[in-house]
Amino acid sequence: MKADIGLIGLAVMGQNLVLNMNDHGFKVAVFNRTHSKTADFLDGAAKDTTIIGAESIDELLNSLASPKKVMLMVKAGQVVDDYIDLIAPKLAAGDIIIDGGNSLYTDTNRRTDALKQQNILFVGTGVSGGEEGARHGPSIMPGGNPAAWEAVKPIFQAISAVVDDYPCCQWVGDQGAGHYVKMIHNGIEYGDMQLICEAYQLLSEGLGLSNDEIQAVFSEWNSGQLQSYLIEITANILAFKDTDETPLLDKILDCAGQKGTGKWTAINALDLGIPLTLIAESVFARCLSAQKTERVQAAVKLPKLAVEFTGDKASMVQAIGEALYAAKIISYAQGFRLIKEAAQEYSWKLNYGEIALMWRGGCIIRSQFLNNINDAYQADPNLDNLLLSDYFAEIMQKSEAGWRKAIILGVEQSLATPVLSSALAFYDGYRSECLPANLLQAQRDYFGAHTYERTDKPRGEFFHTDWTGTGGKTASSIYNV
Ligand code: 6PG
Repeated sequence: MKADIGLIGLAVMGQNLVLNMNDHGFKVAVFNRTHSKTADFLDGAAKDTTIIGAESIDELLNSLASPKKVMLMVKAGQVVDDYIDLIAPKLAAGDIIIDGGNSLYTDTNRRTDALKQQNILFVGTGVSGGEEGARHGPSIMPGGNPAAWEAVKPIFQAISAVVDDYPCCQWVGDQGAGHYVKMIHNGIEYGDMQLICEAYQLLSEGLGLSNDEIQAVFSEWNSGQLQSYLIEITANILAFKDTDETPLLDKILDCAGQKGTGKWTAINALDLGIPLTLIAESVFARCLSAQKTERVQAAVKLPKLAVEFTGDKASMVQAIGEALYAAKIISYAQGFRLIKEAAQEYSWKLNYGEIALMWRGGCIIRSQFLNNINDAYQADPNLDNLLLSDYFAEIMQKSEAGWRKAIILGVEQSLATPVLSSALAFYDGYRSECLPANLLQAQRDYFGAHTYERTDKPRGEFFHTDWTGTGGKTASSIYNV
């Protein structure tokens, strides 16, 4: 019997996806550049399965049923192109190549279009959930050539997480839409993580709570509206003891790593002119954490004001929880706003509610909260911004006082809360009928004749003033990002 799918790349994600497919009754053929890894896999985790090990690409391809489906689980970038160049000439019209790595969506756009010319169907899919998700049910976000969907759907929906009978895998859209949505997922992941870190620091350094006390706070939060995988694992991390029975967390160096997907998200937001402040700040927060040596010097040179917290701790804990929730709403509102802009910019037909539903299970940002986002889009599929939905607008108003209180705690204690604070700055700006950009436009026109619109004239009419009496009457051409 021929295999249903072939998979190239037996690193952690690849191996676990293969085992997951095997569990669901699919016959899988695998290839890894270093064959000993395939042999080890077949002798180890894949022992007593029907998984076929191939020693060459030709052997892999010959073992597949038509239309052939080959999934790449290799390092994003050039390696993906190298494999495509190797495989595509050996495939027939209608065969399918799937890239399941964290590829940049523009690469996926290019690959989908190029392979279409060769009558090969390309799918670029986000796969989230790490090792555990890949093995037992990830969130899968496929995009690319829609003609491939019917063939890959039974496999992907069988192995994905399922929440309320809804597979956390739906067709996202054309070209790189799947990888784009995975990129936004990762950006939101950065934001959620940084938010939790800031709340943790306010609780520990701001209020002086012990790790066990903070663990109890996070556990409680996880049973309410903040319920999420990241809150849950944070509670587990806080409770985890090193071999000497002291908290392991306290021994971990405060230098964050990053592989780049959060940065891609922020760059894309800048390119599309969408304020994605919370995610961008969370990327910068990681960058600042990495400047450890400089921070150590600055800590000596620029000592902090020491102000002890004297208020009511219980009410401050509640305020921090409200801040966390309100800022989280801002993050998702900004993220979905960016997705909406991308849909327009790249002519993708995206279903925002479905994206939220797909993220409810298997992935790193999974949470109950995503149901509320879906509800908001069900109520109004054309919603411009989640903050404009009645449900979220009401929560924002209820959380605002606590949110401000938590930020003031950070300000008083010299604790950096870049994400909690910038989210509030965005919120205050977003709901301002008037911003001081009138002055900014005046400045631009003053020094560069960049022109401005007037409040007493229709939009689209541009004016230039000779502010000093010595300038010319010629305005510079109008160009807006
Ligand atoms: C996921 C994760 C996964 C990976 C991150 C880590 O959805 O399963 O997002 O893709 O863990 O890319 O990213 P950083 O190394 O940049 O934190």
